Amino acid sequence: MSNIAEIKVGEQTYQLPLIEGSEGEKAIDIRKLRAVSGLVALDEGFANTGGCSSSITFIDGEKGILHHRGYPIEQVCDHASFLEVCYLLLFDKLPTQQELSEFKSEVSDNVLVPEEIKNFYKAFPRDAHPMALLSSVVCSLSSYYQHEDSNAPDHFRKTAVRLIAKLPTLAAWAYKTSIGEPLVYPDSNLGYTENFLKMMFSVPNKTYQTNTDMAKALDKLFMLHADHEQNCSATTVRVVGSSEANLYASVAAGICALWGPLHGGANQKVLEMLTGIKESGGTIAECLEMAKDKGNSFRLMGFGHRVYKNFDPRARVIKADCEKLLAGSDDPLLKIAKNLCDSALQDQYFIDRKLYPNVDFYSGLIYRAIGIPTDMFTVMFAIGRLPGWISQWKEMMDNPERRIARPRQIYTGATPRDFPPISQRG
Ligand code: CMC
Repeated sequence: MSNIAEIKVGEQTYQLPLIEGSEGEKAIDIRKLRAVSGLVALDEGFANTGGCSSSITFIDGEKGILHHRGYPIEQVCDHASFLEVCYLLLFDKLPTQQELSEFKSEVSDNVLVPEEIKNFYKAFPRDAHPMALLSSVVCSLSSYYQHEDSNAPDHFRKTAVRLIAKLPTLAAWAYKTSIGEPLVYPDSNLGYTENFLKMMFSVPNKTYQTNTDMAKALDKLFMLHADHEQNCSATTVRVVGSSEANLYASVAAGICALWGPLHGGANQKVLEMLTGIKESGGTIAECLEMAKDKGNSFRLMGFGHRVYKNFDPRARVIKADCEKLLAGSDDPLLKIAKNLCDSALQDQYFIDRKLYPNVDFYSGLIYRAIGIPTDMFTVMFAIGRLPGWISQWKEMMDNPERRIARPRQIYTGATPRDFPPISQRG
């Protein structure tokens, strides 16, 4: 097959290079399109646009495949820990035992956050959404390290480790603030996830007992969320970073993008939807009818995906874990979730549109079993996604062909006209 694509506009034919990724994905390289033809490409939502070339994560949405640095997600989840996945994503290599031990020590040495940051928490209303707090305090971290260039060879690793180490502390403090309990300082003697759970759930007047099963389940959820190629938040991190904003600011922007209910915020919405069905006594059929009604803005939360037109492989892993973790429990929401999922998968509307459960459909039920409150669900996603954001940012910064992200538009507004004085305006 030729490696040239031809675009015919009227009598004129333009030739553009075809490029191919390592898994056989093909693309037309339109970087010179405007220069040769005066035309730009229009693609709202970037559904057909490759924003970059990347060697971090591969997804085959038709087959329901997800690989990190070539390793299938199912194997990663079975054999790795979250910090091992962080290392793999950041440094494009599975760590040796010694490298992993060193990395873990670096992370546990950095779990404390600057003491003044506590003041931020006092300034927010008690019922502030934790994602509002998280994005603000992460951005504020940049001011404590403002003389460092996050991409300089001697600073990148330090900055990445700092963010990975401190995010759980900042997240747990957002929760403690919201419930009016004292902030719990991190414990460097504990593993990453155990430390987070302790900061979330220990109180000064009681002895805290680590629940290793819960910590393991959460660690796996973090792994499952670690990266997902050019999703909305990763793209945001790249776009913000492309202006050479520092890594803290870029990640804070990613947290804001993740917050939306069509992206990471869906996990909270799924649980609210399941609870709504339970409490209103509504039926699953009614819920599906609402989701299918084009006059209703309601969507079946946790269903559908821009890339997956098959089962989201992460949802498969989570569903199995969820059933194991909740085996024996009579959580009514699990039953509703299963029935809703089965009914949607048999419904012609969802079949025709290839809408399957995504990662967010079942994750909330596991968070809930761990005791994590609903409005902290998206924060959990942010902790998991952090190594992906950092790796995407680093890959972009290291690309010698990097340019500021600055799309074009098709202008549809008024054509030139004379500016009227205020007395003549109707
Ligand atoms: N419920 C009902 N209809 C849906 C849903 C849904 N959840 N998702 C898509 N559709 C319909 C949509 O109305 C459209 O129908 P039609 O062709 O008749 O106009 C068709 O399916 C294609 O949908 P789309 O909106 O063009 O798809 P998209 O790729 O732009 O959006 C999505 C992807 C994830 C935003 C969307 O599926 C959605 O809103 N899902 C619910 C929110 C959700 O679960 N988000 C989490 C995504 S996975 C984790 C993450 O990345 O954060």
